[in-house]
Amino acid sequence: MSKKLIAGNWKMNGSLATNQALLQGIRGGLKAPACDIAVCVPAAYLAQCQGLLAGSPVDLGAQDVSQHEAGAYTGETSVAMLKEFGVRYAIVGHSERRQYHGETDAVVAAKAQQALAGGVTPIVCVGETLAEREAGRTEEVVKRQLAAVIHLNGHCISEIVVAYEPVWAIGTGKTASPEQAQQVHAVLRAQLKAATPQAERIKLLYGGSMNAANAAQLLSQPDIDGGLIGGASLKAPDFLTIIAAAG
Ligand code: PGA
Repeated sequence: MSKKLIAGNWKMNGSLATNQALLQGIRGGLKAPACDIAVCVPAAYLAQCQGLLAGSPVDLGAQDVSQHEAGAYTGETSVAMLKEFGVRYAIVGHSERRQYHGETDAVVAAKAQQALAGGVTPIVCVGETLAEREAGRTEEVVKRQLAAVIHLNGHCISEIVVAYEPVWAIGTGKTASPEQAQQVHAVLRAQLKAATPQAERIKLLYGGSMNAANAAQLLSQPDIDGGLIGGASLKAPDFLTIIAAAG
């Protein structure tokens, strides 16, 4: 099994001063981490964070990427631009983008394709809403979302990272139980296995109120290969505890 990946998703949080304190705190507290680590920061702070992370084992990530290569797309950031700042990962299809920015499965697939073409690893998010879970539709929804990115032109699916983030668990303090999360991860793994012999290599992250207290249990599940962490990634001690739990 490859190393686990612990990725922070800062969302629209931070400032020059707090970013510096947070990344210094994380760098200062890292003790020979056994997992891969990334922080996905707001686009405005990529340059600052690239500088603060130079020479550290923490990779830089973005929270989105344009589906277009370049041109008249006001407000968008291209994968080539991300690459100039040393970005290794881009979150794609986060539920907040699906919900507030109308991103469809097709748009998410186009973004994942664009990221791969530009040499950035997409972290593709999938997950059901509370209404979908209560209607017994969890499997159907996550399978449909994953199916959209499973056959990207010219790219092997094994190049992506997948994050299962039940929408009802994001920012709510309600975590999926390790069993609930593992159950969905097993479904996703089976779907990946049907698509590629490399399925075991694909990292399946869990996200949704993962924190210092529950990380170890979630990360010990057989098909949970890491975490995508929102709130708890904004506090260096909590993020460091989660990193240690992935070791
Ligand atoms: P949370 O966010 O850890 O604050 O629930 C996770 C995410 O949305 O990626």
